[in-house]
Amino acid sequence: MPKAELHVHLEGTLEPEMKFVLAARNGVALPYKTADEMRDGYVYHDLPSFLRVFYEGRKVLIEEIDFYDLCYAYLQKAASQNVLYAEMFFDPQQHTERGIAFDTVIRGLTRARVDAERNLGIRSQLIMCFLREQSAQSAMDVLLSALAYKADIVGVGLDSDEKDNPPAKFADVFRRARQEGFRLTAHCDVDQENTHAHIRQALTDIGVDRIDHGVNVLEDPELVALARTQGITFTLCPFANEVVRPGRGQEPIRQMLDMGLKVTLNSDDPAYMKGFYISENLQLAQSAAGLTPVDLLSMSLNAFEAAWISPSEREGYLIALDRFARAWGE
Ligand code: HPA
Ligand code: ZN
Repeated sequence: MPKAELHVHLEGTLEPEMKFVLAARNGVALPYKTADEMRDGYVYHDLPSFLRVFYEGRKVLIEEIDFYDLCYAYLQKAASQNVLYAEMFFDPQQHTERGIAFDTVIRGLTRARVDAERNLGIRSQLIMCFLREQSAQSAMDVLLSALAYKADIVGVGLDSDEKDNPPAKFADVFRRARQEGFRLTAHCDVDQENTHAHIRQALTDIGVDRIDHGVNVLEDPELVALARTQGITFTLCPFANEVVRPGRGQEPIRQMLDMGLKVTLNSDDPAYMKGFYISENLQLAQSAAGLTPVDLLSMSLNAFEAAWISPSEREGYLIALDRFARAWGE
């Protein structure tokens, strides 16, 4: 099925094998002997325990070519799964706080996007995320650095540790981002403390275009109504749901669809989540949430509809999806 991916963190696509290559290239020591040993160390049970492992990986990303290789490898994988278009998160603060220039990061990622489009035909754009445990001033500084690269960044988002870091903390930064023409999204991770207040703030104080995760909307009819009125699309990540709320299953996907909310399925941090890229996430959701082929088609349609692209580009993707659906008899 032709697909769009709207929720994938580039730093979360750093596969163990590539980590070893980059570590050797940059003279960085890793606390593992093999890629399999590294994978075995990827054990977490909630968002903070995931983030600790996830942030460890960044230290091998140093030169522009490292960011290029990271992004190109993801786009290659995505293209192999018939992703026609991807919007990819990156966290500049993960790198600038280690002394790596914003310029180094963005140049590597942008060159990879350009080459992947030329060589593989996959289109992509970047969404810059602010780390929510850092200060609003730090986020503003990143935003100001990004103004020189407006053409390379389509939107801004909010990720990382949600506890005590509500969206409202960044209201001024998001307001400025909107004024500068960026599209807006924010993570409201699954089962976080004060999740309903965070979803409400994202919708009202920030005025997001989308919410990343956000499944706890289901527990508050007022928030459901608000999301419907504002035409919000939720970018869900089936495997990530398992990480953050083990054993609680994938029923929210079914329920959100049945409530007429706009939902898409995505991969989040595939290299840290057992290699579940978008196709594996679709398969997981299909079996665990009882999705039909029509559900899968409608979520792919939602993703192309919610993508931050021009009407003419969207039209091309919708034609491809329609052609696929007809051939498939749906
Ligand atoms: N949630 C919050 N922050 C993140 C995530 C996530 O799923 N992935 C990478 N950073
Ligand atoms: Zn995410």
